[in-house]
Amino acid sequence: MLSEVLLVSAPGKVILHGEHAVVHGKVALAVALNLRTFLRLEPHSNGKVDLSLPNIGIKRAWDVAGLQSLDTSFLEQGDVTTPTPEQVEKLKDVAGLPDDCAVTERLAVLAFLYLYLSICQKQRWTREDLELINKWAFQGERVIHGNPSGVDNAVSTWGGALRYHQGKISSLKRSPALQILLTNTKVPRNTRALVAGVRNRLLKFPEIVAPLLTSIDAISLECERVLGEMGEAPAPEQYLVLEELIDMNQHHLNALGVGHASLDQLCQVTRARGLHSKLTGAGGGGCGITLLKPGLEQPEVEATKQALTSCGFDCLETSIGAPGVSIHSATSLDSRVQQALDGL
Ligand code: MEV
Repeated sequence: MLSEVLLVSAPGKVILHGEHAVVHGKVALAVALNLRTFLRLEPHSNGKVDLSLPNIGIKRAWDVAGLQSLDTSFLEQGDVTTPTPEQVEKLKDVAGLPDDCAVTERLAVLAFLYLYLSICQKQRWTREDLELINKWAFQGERVIHGNPSGVDNAVSTWGGALRYHQGKISSLKRSPALQILLTNTKVPRNTRALVAGVRNRLLKFPEIVAPLLTSIDAISLECERVLGEMGEAPAPEQYLVLEELIDMNQHHLNALGVGHASLDQLCQVTRARGLHSKLTGAGGGGCGITLLKPGLEQPEVEATKQALTSCGFDCLETSIGAPGVSIHSATSLDSRVQQALDGL
């Protein structure tokens, strides 16, 4: 079924502005990061397809012959906006998972089989394939938090820097290559509960919360304007505006009830070094971003990373605007990525 090593990667992503507000029809700006997750598919001579997902402890194997004899025509229907229960049942039959298998493992295996049986047989993806991947990723988001806006799957699929508004996606023109720190507070959070919490607060205090969402919308629009200006004619003052927008949005997100003590700590640690941070995504823990201005000396960046690591956080330095989900040939990969994959 598979004749050569196939590598698929997807970028990490962050929301610059507009998380939560986007669920209520406001604008969000999201960017793909130069931090990627890789899936490696390689041919075996033992007649088996092995799946190994070390991060979530999954190891499974299927007979290639068994998979080849399957009627996979149901996967070619294209529209997966609402997968039918029959389609899901067929994938479950193929997977042969035990009844007590955890939901996350079950979904990961089903998603893998879908990719293996259909999309990954190709060496190149067309726009239609990417649209299909985006729809499947959206279904994954629905499982995780019920009522997703669609911004997260869109930016992971299409990459770059996107403006997302009520399902309409446009690329930011001439967006600058910003450097950021991505800090994981390692505080677990429940996106579904956080999204529901904002909705409840909006219902309880509409006069107070609706203006916050409108203000976040305006922050996203102003950020989009400044990024466009930076792409045309960069100037140091533009970074000051970006920093102010970050601070204001972080306060709004706290007022929406999606802050966390760990995120406050992240903001304080970076603020003490003249850097500005906000939560990204659902909040309540999870990750934050810190804008790194040009001209910042590397020792200062390292000291900030060290200070955040001392709080028990994981901190990575990266840049925004990476390609979306991609297929790679084994030879085209960076040697560090190749080594990391070989070490698994
Ligand atoms: C989560 O990454 C972003 C939220 O705005 C939810 C969503 O857009 O679906 C909180």
